[in-house]
Amino acid sequence: MSHFHPLPVKNIKRLTPSSVAITFGIPKELLQTYDFIPGQYITIKKELKGKELRRSYSICSSPKKDCITVGVKKVDKGGFSDYANSKLAVGDVLEVMSPEGRFVFKPTSGQKKIAAFAAGSGITPIMSIVKAVLDSNSKSQFVLVYGNKSYAETMFYTDLVKLQLEYTNRFFVYFVNSKEQEGDSLFGRIDVSTVNYVLKNKHKDTQFDDFYICGPEAMIHLVSETLQDHDIPTEKIHFELFTTTEILDELPEKPEGKTELTVILDDEEFKFPMQRNVRVLDAVLKENIDAPYSCQGGVCSTCIARIKEGKAEMVKNQILTDGEIAEGLILTCQAHPLTPTLTVDYDDV
Ligand code: FES
Repeated sequence: MSHFHPLPVKNIKRLTPSSVAITFGIPKELLQTYDFIPGQYITIKKELKGKELRRSYSICSSPKKDCITVGVKKVDKGGFSDYANSKLAVGDVLEVMSPEGRFVFKPTSGQKKIAAFAAGSGITPIMSIVKAVLDSNSKSQFVLVYGNKSYAETMFYTDLVKLQLEYTNRFFVYFVNSKEQEGDSLFGRIDVSTVNYVLKNKHKDTQFDDFYICGPEAMIHLVSETLQDHDIPTEKIHFELFTTTEILDELPEKPEGKTELTVILDDEEFKFPMQRNVRVLDAVLKENIDAPYSCQGGVCSTCIARIKEGKAEMVKNQILTDGEIAEGLILTCQAHPLTPTLTVDYDDV
């Protein structure tokens, strides 16, 4: 199971007026713990105004270094992203959880052709994946479609232009700007016509091995459905939600009654009763058990556990596959118990 460790801030680089890249130094003894697969994220824990905040950020750097870099875009006032953009300084120490996440590209020596669609800060995991794909084989290709308001608000713009020059004929990037048409950019938002233009016109002779999509929920659904309309199988479409709808989803009928919950965490066992209309993670945190979590909205996958006994139902799941659910995995932040007893194991995931 992943744990928090204090990591020093080694560098802060301004990317746009409202985003920064934060680099953490990794001490020698933690190098293995913070080893990651391109596409994974870290969760940062910080107390601000007396409240503990946890926020997940995708890693944009390449593996095999003694540091880890994440991109943080300011999305709130007074929250962690505001703090990171205005007050955080080199030398500060933050609590950082070891890398997690399933939106990954596992580097292989074979030749790969990958296409990715990203919007806003959804570019961060893609940055790490781009470098891994291009470095894994000298014939691999990467096509990126990247949507923003303008070039001034485009995170990693200069890095992407540099990559284009470095990997001519292997890395192709299409900037899509919604505020106004600038230079070579496409104008508007990433939509059905953008996907068709890139896949059916610009790269019509390319057979892509995999597709990665990262950004707001609406964009992910639209791109994914358009790809499926082109007969691309769902196993080749990988996506990571960065935000979710604000509405707190619920089961059609909230389960009633009580459940005796057993929690296995770090080889310890905790037992206590909980109401079935409460979500498992909420009940666990109320008992002051230090279970892993971050978004609490079914987006990040930090809270995964395995059901060892009993049944539970998730309100929302866009992360676990049917096979993983059949194996007993659940997002505890989304799960209500359905049986008189339920055992969840955070260690066996
Ligand atoms: S805490 Fe993020 S999915 Fe449950």
